[in-house]
Amino acid sequence: MLDLVIRGKRALAEGIFEFELVAADGSTLPEFSAGGHLPVETPSGGMRQYSLSNNPSERDRYVIGVKLEPEGRGGSRSMIEDTVEGDQLKALPPENDFPLVDAPAYILIAGGIGITPILSMARVLTVRGKPFKLIYCTRSPALTAYEDVLSSGDVSGEITIHHDDGDPDKVYDFWDLFEEPSKAHVYCCGPKPLMEEVKGVTGHWPESAIHFEDFKPVEMFRAADVAFEVTLAKSGRTVTVPVGTTVLDAVRTAGVKVASSCESGTCGTCKTTYLSGNVDHRDLVLMPEEKTDKVMICVSRADEGGMVLDL
Ligand code: FES
Repeated sequence: MLDLVIRGKRALAEGIFEFELVAADGSTLPEFSAGGHLPVETPSGGMRQYSLSNNPSERDRYVIGVKLEPEGRGGSRSMIEDTVEGDQLKALPPENDFPLVDAPAYILIAGGIGITPILSMARVLTVRGKPFKLIYCTRSPALTAYEDVLSSGDVSGEITIHHDDGDPDKVYDFWDLFEEPSKAHVYCCGPKPLMEEVKGVTGHWPESAIHFEDFKPVEMFRAADVAFEVTLAKSGRTVTVPVGTTVLDAVRTAGVKVASSCESGTCGTCKTTYLSGNVDHRDLVLMPEEKTDKVMICVSRADEGGMVLDL
């Protein structure tokens, strides 16, 4: 474990905070590479992984971005609400499941808090003099982190910041960028719908050139999963949830509108009331007492007896 001190903490955007962490004894920190993340023990006791946004050549500090998940109960909330500059935190040495490979050019795509590893990459590519495009999608200027850095000239590259105002008709159209495959490598980090979109428009690109940051904090599908039926109490309709499909996707396919964000059981957006069923809770959000009548339908399932949702 590393003993770190919070040297700086600042709001980057609505609900997004930056932490600058240094070694408690002032020593040089273990190295990291662009795209890496830092496993941090949060004040609430849980381990959370936060992507590093600074240049890996800086060996005296780690800079991470932390997003407040309003419905969450754990780690990120305690990082933001229960810490002040000067506090100590424990962390494991940085890891990297999203490393930059050498390529003639790059397309970097970020959504929301996904800008943190992408910014570290942009910093490294700037130093290396590599050409890159960076597309950063957020809902609004207020929810956009690091706009100051991206417009300061500190990172080179062709930078586009796109706001969709939460309107599905205004999402960024990636097709022009990907219509013609090139030798560029693509790095994408953001909410699942953004990554699915990029997956969809790069199907004709070499698979090895497309890289996604996906922490997979929750095991959504397991070998013993079975298909089951979900009854929607308000309409009386029944929807089948096959193995390998989430309740959220099955319900949406049936035409029911349900809000979601992370689609990985960590943000709390898809919280739904259930009226009956043996629910296998797989999220990281619900308090034990909530599990008797609430379910995160992006990850949790039922046994063959199915479940009844208040939808
Ligand atoms: S917990 Fe985030 S969408 Fe389900």
